[in-house]
Amino acid sequence: MALLDVTNLSIHFGGVKAVQDVSFSIDAGIVYAVIGPNGAGKTTLFNLITGVYKPTHGEIRLDGESIGGKSPDELARRGVARTFQNLQICMNMSAIENVMVGAHLRLDRNLLKAALRFPSITRRDAELRAEALELMRFVGLDKFADSRADAMPYGALKRLEIARALAMKPRLIFLDEPAAGLNPKETIEVDELVRKVADSGITVVLVEHDMKMVMNLSDRILVLDYGKKLAEGTGEEVRRNPDVIAAYLGGHA
Ligand SMILES: Nc1ncnc2c1ncn2[C@@H]1O[C@H](COP(=O)(O)OP(=O)(O)OP(=O)(O)O)[C@@H](O)[C@H]1O
Ligand SMILES: [Mg+2]
Repeated sequence: MALLDVTNLSIHFGGVKAVQDVSFSIDAGIVYAVIGPNGAGKTTLFNLITGVYKPTHGEIRLDGESIGGKSPDELARRGVARTFQNLQICMNMSAIENVMVGAHLRLDRNLLKAALRFPSITRRDAELRAEALELMRFVGLDKFADSRADAMPYGALKRLEIARALAMKPRLIFLDEPAAGLNPKETIEVDELVRKVADSGITVVLVEHDMKMVMNLSDRILVLDYGKKLAEGTGEEVRRNPDVIAAYLGGHA
């Protein structure tokens, strides 16, 4: 059984059919890319699967269980984490505090409330801090641990978001344009980091305009155009698909 099954998924915003009747499956352990021109519906698809939007039609199943319409919190606890195309970092907090937010998101809210009344919170916070520091090391940001986020370079903030998502201990991570706005050296660093995340056993779903990175990392690729599924397959299959060449690669090459 696939880890994620999406069937006939649609969302309409008034007259805008942002995602239309899209179906695909993602097996556990792979890197799956979603590509398509600006406005194709990639971020909207992520928003649907991560609980930001409720579908107008269609089914989303994680491990066979329907998750369509569940909240981002609930999905985080089921192992679904994400980063955002437009950074969502708390700029007045330190880097490590931002990562600890991710860890808090995965804990049961009521348990956390209860924990606040007991001295053991100190030990738990120390544990979460150690865990967060380990993740900062994993993404190559340990030297920024106590820096305020607003004092960090943009490229580092992109990786900080990945660390925060990893703090949720996800099975499935959605990365929305992790290399957008990065220089070639930073792009290679993110490419290597995504590979490391996948090698750690987390299933990766990637939206990215950098085709070199997409082709290098992905086991399978979904191509969206005007909210619809245009093609799906391996990098080779997608690259050779005449519809893709006409609608997307042709227009961008
Ligand atoms: N909340 C919303 N309300 C109305 N329209 C929306 C909303 N969210 C997305 N859309 C529309 O849905 C379409 C798809 O947008 P989306 O952001 O998913 O594209 P994208 O493929 O991520 O593009 P990009 O590559 O530029 O990030 C666009 O026409 C957009 O204007
Ligand atoms: Mg987008």
